[in-house]
Amino acid sequence: MTEQYMPPIVSGELGQDTVTAAADRNFYTRGKRTPALPALSEIDGVSVSSLVKEFGSPLFVFSEKDVQAKAREMREAFKSRYPRTSFAWSVKTNYLNAICQILRNEGWIAEVVSDFEYRKARKLGFAGKEIVFNGPHKPKDILELAVSEGALVQIDNLDELGALEEIARHAEGPIELGLRVWLDAGVKPIWSKFGFALANGEAEQAAARVIANPKFKLHTLHCHIGTFILAPDAYRVATRKLVALREQLHIKHDHLVPCLNLGGGFPSRSLLHGMWGPREKAVPPIDAYADAISDVLNKLPAKKRPLLRLESGRSLVDEAGYLLTTVVSVKGVNRSTSASGLVASGHKDRLILSDNSKVGYVVDAGINLLYTAAWYQFDVHPSQFIDTPPIPSRLYGPLCMAIDVIRDNVELPPLAAGDVLTLHPVGAYNVVQSMQFISYRPAVVLIGANGVPELIRTRETLEDIDRPERLPAHLSAA
Ligand SMILES: Cc1ncc(COP(=O)(O)O)c(C=O)c1O
Repeated sequence: MTEQYMPPIVSGELGQDTVTAAADRNFYTRGKRTPALPALSEIDGVSVSSLVKEFGSPLFVFSEKDVQAKAREMREAFKSRYPRTSFAWSVKTNYLNAICQILRNEGWIAEVVSDFEYRKARKLGFAGKEIVFNGPHKPKDILELAVSEGALVQIDNLDELGALEEIARHAEGPIELGLRVWLDAGVKPIWSKFGFALANGEAEQAAARVIANPKFKLHTLHCHIGTFILAPDAYRVATRKLVALREQLHIKHDHLVPCLNLGGGFPSRSLLHGMWGPREKAVPPIDAYADAISDVLNKLPAKKRPLLRLESGRSLVDEAGYLLTTVVSVKGVNRSTSASGLVASGHKDRLILSDNSKVGYVVDAGINLLYTAAWYQFDVHPSQFIDTPPIPSRLYGPLCMAIDVIRDNVELPPLAAGDVLTLHPVGAYNVVQSMQFISYRPAVVLIGANGVPELIRTRETLEDIDRPERLPAHLSAA
């Protein structure tokens, strides 16, 4: 062998730690060709940094304009196709008084699912007649109150029907009632927990029992097929099935149920984990849902067309809600390597290719405030434009728990402690499901339609948390 040993040629790329290295070859190192992330520096004309300065961080922010716009868009979509539509606000989605009041001002009635929500709606000024009462557990005393105040109770189960029959014995009739039906609209999983089954005749039997009672009037057939339903045609199926049940009851019992309630479930422009954007393409517009439902109802003879009722939550408020949060620390990348891999905040290691090759940021808002982070991928926007290509990053919450991760994989420009980020959309369910755990729940601000930010819920204090507690005398400090 006379061949001479040829040493390998070391590419100029190797060992480079700039964002341009290996840019052509590797998904994670798209270098300068990845456009910088746009900033979200204002909400309704109010600067994000001034909000944090005035009201603290983290901070929930809602836009009155946005809630109004969504309500008007939904009203227009349905009323233009089916004028006999009535709208109820699903209070559990966000029962901040200010949010409920905006929807009340838009002409929405209230849909509640518990004793607490019923009383809250009444306190907000909704008359009994303006309340639809759902839910699998309605204790007898609240049922009595709701019936006496003229609320529309939508019966969930036979035990509740029995309780209502008992109440009716001592009440003046007729009591208007709804019946929750569970049916297969082609959406999986089917929520079998609620209502009376259509497929085995249970719903028809229960309806017949209500119709037969002279103290009752069956006002509504109701179904709620799930939440974040991305298939408008599922509503077409559900509407057909409710119409068929109504027709059957009409023929057999000579009672034409005046109202069909198709529930909530319309999606917001949000993405579930694993879904690809853009949101405008991934999520059908409200008009598609209005088409699906009104197509079926408009085929009925004019005299037989029912009142259509909807009880939406998510689609009305999700996009109106933002959570502002501040970076409290920057973790190194490739944390699985030796101490040198823990070089923090310089972002020099970002070309190391592994799942751990992400910059980690600890922010001051965690999953205790963002229950829905388990399902939805929130957009993350820096509040200032950073003219550097985004890189794979991970957002950790501040809780002393490993599961406190808000976004496991999100592309962000290099950030530093003190930078403010906005998470969006977070307006549905998060505020009401947020829990006091380890830290205080944050303040909530509403930017009014007049562009003025106002506090609508104060930040929790130690006194708020301690107030309901009682210390037994023998444990009190001497
Ligand atoms: C009975 C009922 N109606 C309406 C809603 C509102 O649903 P969404 O927020 O998906 O519109 C819910 C929520 O799950 C519900 O349980």
